[in-house]
Amino acid sequence: MAQKIIFDTDPGIDDAMALFFALASPEIEVVGVTTVFGNVHTELATRNALALLEFAGRSDLPVAQGAVRPLHLPFEEPATLVHGQNGLGEVALPAPKTSPDPRPAAQFIVDAVMRFPGEIILAPVGPLTNIALALMLEPRIVERVAGVVLMGGAATVNGNVNPAAEANIWHDPHAADLVFTAGWPVTMLGLDVTMAVQMDDAYFAGLRTSRLGEFIHAISRFYLEFHRQVHGLDACHTHDPSVIAYLIDPTLYTVEYGPIRVVTEGIAMGLTLWDRCGKWLRPNAWTGRPAVGVCTRVDAPRVLALFHERIVGERLPAQ
Ligand code: BDR
Ligand code: CA
Repeated sequence: MAQKIIFDTDPGIDDAMALFFALASPEIEVVGVTTVFGNVHTELATRNALALLEFAGRSDLPVAQGAVRPLHLPFEEPATLVHGQNGLGEVALPAPKTSPDPRPAAQFIVDAVMRFPGEIILAPVGPLTNIALALMLEPRIVERVAGVVLMGGAATVNGNVNPAAEANIWHDPHAADLVFTAGWPVTMLGLDVTMAVQMDDAYFAGLRTSRLGEFIHAISRFYLEFHRQVHGLDACHTHDPSVIAYLIDPTLYTVEYGPIRVVTEGIAMGLTLWDRCGKWLRPNAWTGRPAVGVCTRVDAPRVLALFHERIVGERLPAQ
């Protein structure tokens, strides 16, 4: 049976790639998409999510709009330098004909999880605000989800906003700390593994044989340019699609366990500080906290092959 997921997202170029990857994979059933601020403002994230689903012929799937700002901090600004003004590398999609679900994202998440106890994995690939709000709304979802598999953080490498913080965690560190310590099974696909999988121009060119692949090639132009300019890299990191790769085939990753706390203030705000040791003279803020599954290594060629296979062989409704 396909794994049910709620895809929580701020589309976003790599968010779009991840959504298409999920939709094209029979192992995954997307039961809904929830949107959040981050790469773009929430309203644009919702518009993009609806437009991407329409493009993929899946406007039957509900989209619920979520938080417009972090729990306790102001929303700094959208990542237009990374994803473009429209969030999709300035590639235009027709205005969506469908409308969002009337419920806020947190309510949508609670309703779905309570309706399908033990069946849903939450798959957030943006700031964790909606997930934290859902937790506050209905704490029993901790026992009712099948797990949380998220893109965010950096356990063994530097961040990508500054040396401490990865973007999704940096946007809402308070929400992230709640999610990591809630007591449900969390798996983290952080920069440790997402930066190790790189898609270059030749790789994107190889996707162009399908409709989804042609779109991904188009949006990758802006993303490649950002990686060239800022990282000096002739390829893109593979952030959000990593969550989908893990859900399809966890053997692609090496997972190690230990509690994570998130630094919520100061120069290291947004740091995902992982207790990899577990033995301390005195109790500390990590003591007794649930172990998080941290992906520390990845079989990059296999992830690239899987993404290629799914995008090129798209199994979607005919257009
Ligand atoms: C994360 O930040 C966003 O720019 C991407 O969509 C991804 O979710 C990577 O740090
Ligand atoms: Ca994202």
